[in-house]
Amino acid sequence: MNKLQIIMFCQLIVGFQSTAQNTGPVYLDSSQPIEKRVESALSLMTLKEKVDMCHAQSKFSSKGVPRLGIPEIWTDDGPHGIREEVFWDDWSGAQWTNDSCTAFPALTCLAATFNPDMALLYGKSIGEEARYRNKTVLLGPGVNIYRTPMNGRNFEYMGEDPYLSSRIVVPYIQGVQQNGVSACVKHFALNNQELWRDHINVVLSDRALNEIYLPAFKAAVEEGKVGAIMGSYNQFNGVHCCTNDLLLNQILKKDWKFEGVVISDWGGVHETDKAVRNGLDLEMGTSIDGLTNNGGIPYSEYYLANPFLKGIESGKYMEALLNDKVSRILRLIFRFTMSQNRPYGKFISPEHSEAARKIAEEGIVLLKNDKQSLPVPVGKYKRIAVIGENATRSVTLGGGSSSLKVAYEVTPLAGLVALYGKKSVVYSQGYASGSVSYDREEQSHANTDSLVHAAVETARGAEIVFYIGGLNKNRFQDCEGGDRKTYNLPFGQDKLIEALLKVNRNLTVILLSGNAVAMPWIDKVPAIVQSWYLGSEAGNAIADVLTGAVNPSGKLPFSFPKKLEDNAAISFGKLSYPGDSINECYKEDILVGYRWFDTKHIAPLFAFGFGLSYTNFEYGKITTDKKTYNKDETIKVSFTLKNIGKVDGAEAVQVYVSQPKASVLRPAKELKAFKKVFLKAGESQSVELEVKVKDLAFYNEKTHGWSVEPGQFVLHNAASSAEVKSSVSIQVKKE
Ligand code: BGC
Repeated sequence: MNKLQIIMFCQLIVGFQSTAQNTGPVYLDSSQPIEKRVESALSLMTLKEKVDMCHAQSKFSSKGVPRLGIPEIWTDDGPHGIREEVFWDDWSGAQWTNDSCTAFPALTCLAATFNPDMALLYGKSIGEEARYRNKTVLLGPGVNIYRTPMNGRNFEYMGEDPYLSSRIVVPYIQGVQQNGVSACVKHFALNNQELWRDHINVVLSDRALNEIYLPAFKAAVEEGKVGAIMGSYNQFNGVHCCTNDLLLNQILKKDWKFEGVVISDWGGVHETDKAVRNGLDLEMGTSIDGLTNNGGIPYSEYYLANPFLKGIESGKYMEALLNDKVSRILRLIFRFTMSQNRPYGKFISPEHSEAARKIAEEGIVLLKNDKQSLPVPVGKYKRIAVIGENATRSVTLGGGSSSLKVAYEVTPLAGLVALYGKKSVVYSQGYASGSVSYDREEQSHANTDSLVHAAVETARGAEIVFYIGGLNKNRFQDCEGGDRKTYNLPFGQDKLIEALLKVNRNLTVILLSGNAVAMPWIDKVPAIVQSWYLGSEAGNAIADVLTGAVNPSGKLPFSFPKKLEDNAAISFGKLSYPGDSINECYKEDILVGYRWFDTKHIAPLFAFGFGLSYTNFEYGKITTDKKTYNKDETIKVSFTLKNIGKVDGAEAVQVYVSQPKASVLRPAKELKAFKKVFLKAGESQSVELEVKVKDLAFYNEKTHGWSVEPGQFVLHNAASSAEVKSSVSIQVKKE
């Protein structure tokens, strides 16, 4: 028999084995277990067809097996809405007229809700949009840890705490995947800055890796059952993370038993051998110009294309390596695209707007509210000055790959005008930042002096000023591909705020950003609101919070340092951040974010977990169900919470744990449980939370495993990492 005859014979005996009722091939029979379908499809494919599945065929898609009816994979960004269609072989928008999406709030805002129900709603809604647009894989969410306020991509992530991001990422993934669309958690791993992101080599301890940087990915895999994971651009242990044996083969696939697809970040693969052997399954974005060969590499020359095929044919690579990659890709296709009960999705539906608004409203954080300057009910003032470029600028556009073409976006100014009325609101731009650009630093040609002058005059004549500024999505702001250059507000905003304060002290600062910023004017300003990037419903959500229609309940998912040098990574100097362009050493080790501030007794400007409300909450004393626990038990924590103010509200209560005496350094305390509790004015509730004793472990570098040391642990209920309400001690027994 020749080769083709052998293939056909095998197809007959393996692929077409069928059930009694079904005469088609096993892989098409959705009543069969996925593994059988994978085996069946694999057995029908030629070597070339298999290799073809392991790399891109266009900017965002990879091949299926047309002759077998196995569909292509279509990926799309992610993570805040479904990116517009781009040309086959080019990043630019393809000018479709039916792809304008709902923009959901940035993931920093989602994390600030401290509410896993919001994450499920987010995932479900964005998943429906992805499904309607016929996507197989949504490129998100991102869970890289907020290590410094300078990272240009922090707005796409879930803050500085591994526990918070783990609890938020899991329901997000579950929500997306209910729709027959796979999520793709990114960027695995240690992609904590944008500067030199394609080559910087991260050096850190095993302990920091396991305690801080991996948990959210692990939760995404083990609990979220995420279908795909994206490797990151940077290097770890001197090897690029998209082709890193330790991260992909050892940790992800062996230790965490990940059965899904490892997708490279776009252009993150640099050689065939490592791509073949080190755990990558699907190579994307390797050249900037695939098909046209216009100075770039055509898709057939991707590292996992012809070079891989030739390597197998010559015996350099075992076919088993290819079969493993293809099995994973087929598994994803059978699990999602070819699953029997795949829903149809929906796009720009009113429910999605409602979801975006609800998440935005729950994520907005009230940072300061002296003398109850907020809320400002409709009718209280006749002349409200709205000042600042972010009141009118689109912030769904820009930022890099998460940039969105939206069906609509309610700007803050539009939201405020809709509630306070046209007659009461006057607007002045105040500063200018230039047009939206991802790859160039834009300069505005506007006359700064006259902008400031006009804004000051507007503020002078008003009863209250809503200053709406912050960062934006341009290069060197909150934007992929570069880090911020300064911790202060850009575009002369600090000076502008000072100038406004000279003529009007009744000024609320509303910041749109995905990062902490310096606030040199903080003592002079009565109210500050952290409003993130809120998506399509931004203006409505901000107006609802300012008027008091919604009582704010967001809490900060990362600390705001008073000055940049107070940030842990930055305090250790250049090699720690941003590195020397070759290496970057995470010298702060496990003391990231509030772990640093607390342990070193440095007061932050605003602490992790902090956020005010228009009401007040009274915390009862924390108690536990027992005093002594075995290592496999769960601690049941309870305390009462009472809304002692005059309006309904919600409080994200937090439980932190400390270990006073340990054989290794432990942070002063670590978040181990939280819950968003909704209470009517005057209502009180008994709050019940659980902490597993095994979650009190530290990563033991000696044993390469997790250790819970017997002895005393202290649990605290807290309104933020800096505001412990009460504490209780428990003992963990010796085994
Ligand atoms: C980004 C990814 C993104 C991909 C595709 C890359 O530059 O790092 O997050 O999903 O592009 O747009």
